[in-house]
Parts: sequence; structure tokens; C-alpha cells
Amino acid sequence: MGCSWFACLSGEAREVDGEIAAIDNVKIFKYREIRQATDDFSAENKIGEGGFGSVYKGRLKDGKLAAIKVLSAESRQGVKEFLTEINVISKIQHENLVELYGCCVEGIHRILVYNFLENNSLDKTLLAGGYTRSGIQFDWSSRANICVGVAKGLAFLHEEVRPHIIHRDIKASNILLDRYLSPKISDFGLARLMPPNMTHVSTRVAGTIGYLAPEYAVRGQLTRKADIYSFGVLLMEIVSGRSNKNTRLPTEYQYLLERAWDLYERNELVDLVDSGLNGIFDAEEACRYLKIGLLCTQDSPKLRPSMSTVVKFLTGEKGIDYKKISRPGLISDFMDLKVRGPVATKAEQVNRQNYTNPSSSNASSRDHSNAYSSGASSANAGNTFSSTI
Ligand SMILES: Nc1ncnc2c1ncn2[C@@H]1O[C@H](COP(=O)(O)OP(=O)(O)OP(=O)(O)O)[C@@H](O)[C@H]1O
Ligand SMILES: [Mg+2]
Repeated sequence: MGCSWFACLSGEAREVDGEIAAIDNVKIFKYREIRQATDDFSAENKIGEGGFGSVYKGRLKDGKLAAIKVLSAESRQGVKEFLTEINVISKIQHENLVELYGCCVEGIHRILVYNFLENNSLDKTLLAGGYTRSGIQFDWSSRANICVGVAKGLAFLHEEVRPHIIHRDIKASNILLDRYLSPKISDFGLARLMPPNMTHVSTRVAGTIGYLAPEYAVRGQLTRKADIYSFGVLLMEIVSGRSNKNTRLPTEYQYLLERAWDLYERNELVDLVDSGLNGIFDAEEACRYLKIGLLCTQDSPKLRPSMSTVVKFLTGEKGIDYKKISRPGLISDFMDLKVRGPVATKAEQVNRQNYTNPSSSNASSRDHSNAYSSGASSANAGNTFSSTI
């Protein structure tokens, strides 16, 4: 006997008035309801635009505020595939991950409905001028709390979710803050919603490139260690209160990682801590955080600690003093990349550049047979790109 497609999903489908209302704990919203919630996708309600589409603030019928992500045309999966992936993503719940309320899948529309976070993303607050611009006081303890929270969320995705999830886009704009400044990682699992021939399109390549692990950027070698590299960059941004790249600074200070390594070698890491803290911070702890950032961004992926170890390093449960830190993996050519625009994917743009890493002597890092297809995680299965270098 045949079954309708939704009944064939692993979860329980509930019908209301002959229509699908929910699958497991995923609410299925009507397009009409989403339009009402966002005031017909009004410009005033638009709160952002990313690689996957536009984001609107909206009030749902039950009174809850939501962040409504309208996926771009490229992400039009079939209804069944889309709902299967949504069902998986919605079950991944942790206090440091943004909660998915539900979705809308009507006709050509593919829309995700998330819990709305009051205090925006780290790039629009802490990295955009901190207190003066956002009105949020990021004192040392709130920063430490954000670092530990993000580390716990990522450790959960990497080590507790089965099959594990590689986020692929850990960066300041994907860290949202609730009213208590508790961090929530957003956009995890979104790669699952992309058709197989498409990698995540980013229109702000320069901003994203600063977070990309060299082995992922160049050879498409995607493992959890690529996320750990991005986390290391983010950690240093949070402690220093600056972006990984700042062209307004003198040349030798422009790249956060280079600057951190330079100061580390001179035993002056404390100079990197945000001057906006007015000297009110635990210097030993702040330097430890910066060293953990350096451990995470080491050129060799296998030298980078796992996220659960990072959590222990951050909380002090495990010491890092005995750890030798090797030079960060830098993609210096990419850092001058001026290409912007929606045409090329992040991977395509990166792959046009040459990877120069003076510290790398590993012959395999010059391996040119680099079509990527991850068998390690279903989160990435099917996402392929090939490099031209
Ligand atoms: N759940 C949410 N609550 C509050 N604001 C949100 C939420 N989700 C997204 N936003 C806002 O929308 C903006 C755009 O998010 P979006 O994820 O589309 O783009 P991005 O993170 O800048 O880039 P990318 O597509 O590469 O992740 C965010 O910077 C944030 O300000
Ligand atoms: Mg995002």
C-alpha cells in the first residue's frame, strides 16, 4: 500500500483541516501567515540579507517575535527533500543554538522561521563599535560568557549530534545574542538545504574569507577542524573587539591573526585586548583566550584542539601552558582580495587565488586532486566543489 510523502517522513505528520500543520515539532506556516507577520515583507521589517536570502522581523499569530528567513531562488528544493532536512535541523536543540520554530513550504516559497534574538549579531554590535554604536556594554565577563557559549554550541554540533554537523560558516554575523547576551549560533545545517551543485554564496567574500581555514579554502578539505579554525578567529575578535581585517589600521596591524602571532612571539599578547575595556579585565584569562584562539588557527588541522577540549581550555578545567603553539595558517593572498559581488561562490573566489603559506612544508597540501565530497557528515554530503588551482 502506498503512503503520501509526508507520512513517509521519519517524523509524525499532523493534519489540520486536511493540510499539514506540523511534522514532529516543526510548525508548518501558511504563506499568508508569514506575509501578515512581516507586514507583507515590508522594508521596515527587513533586518538583514545574507547568502541564503533576506531576513525579516515578524510577529506570529501567537504573539511571538520571529526572524523570518526567505530562502533565495537557488535553494528551491522539492517539498519532500526540504521538509526532511527541516525535520532534522529542528531536532538539533541546545541553549547555544538558535531555535527553529518552523517553516513555510508553499509553491515556490521556502521560508524558515526562527526565534528572534533581541540583541542582534556580534558583527553588528561588538565589532561595529561596541557600546558607542550598539548601546551594549560588552564587559569582560559577558565576552568570556559569549566565547564559552559559542564553544559549547559548536562542541554540541561537532560531537554530540549524530551524524555530526560541520557548520561551515562560523563568523560574527552568525552569532546572535539574546536579551541576556547569551550567544546562539545561527545557520547551522543550512548547507543541507542547498542543492548539490551549489555551495553557500556569500556576497561579502572579503569578510568571510578571514574565517576560512586554508585547507578548506584551497583544497575544499572540510572537516570539523575548519570550523575550529573559524572559531579561533572569532575568539580573537571577541577579545580584541576588532574584525579579523581592518584596512583603516597601519599595514602591519591590519590582519588580526598576523598581529596576534607577532605579539605572541614577543610575549605581549595583552596589547591585543580591546582598549574599550578600559583595562578592566582579567589579563591572565584574556591572554589565555587569545592563546586558545592561536591554538585553534594553527596551520596544521590536526594540531587544532577539538571543540570539547576548547571548552575545557576556556573554562580553565584543562591547562594550556604545556601546549606549544605553531604559526597560524594564513592565506595572505586572499586577504587582499577585492572581488565583491553575488556572482562567484565563496569557494570559487577563494580557489582563484594561490595559497601561499610559507610555514607549510607538507607535500600533501599541494595535492591538486581536490574535488570535495564529505562522507564524514550527512550535513555536507552532496556539497561539492572543485578547485582550479
Ligand atoms: N534569529 C534572528 N534574530 C534576530 N536577528 C536575526 C536572526 N537571524 C538573522 N538575523 C539578522 O539578520 C542578519 C542577516 O542574517 P543572515 O544569516 O541572512 O546573513 P549573515 O549572517 O550576515 O550572512 P550568512 O548568510 O553568510 O550567514 C543578521 O546579521 C542578523 O542581524
Ligand atoms: Mg547568518
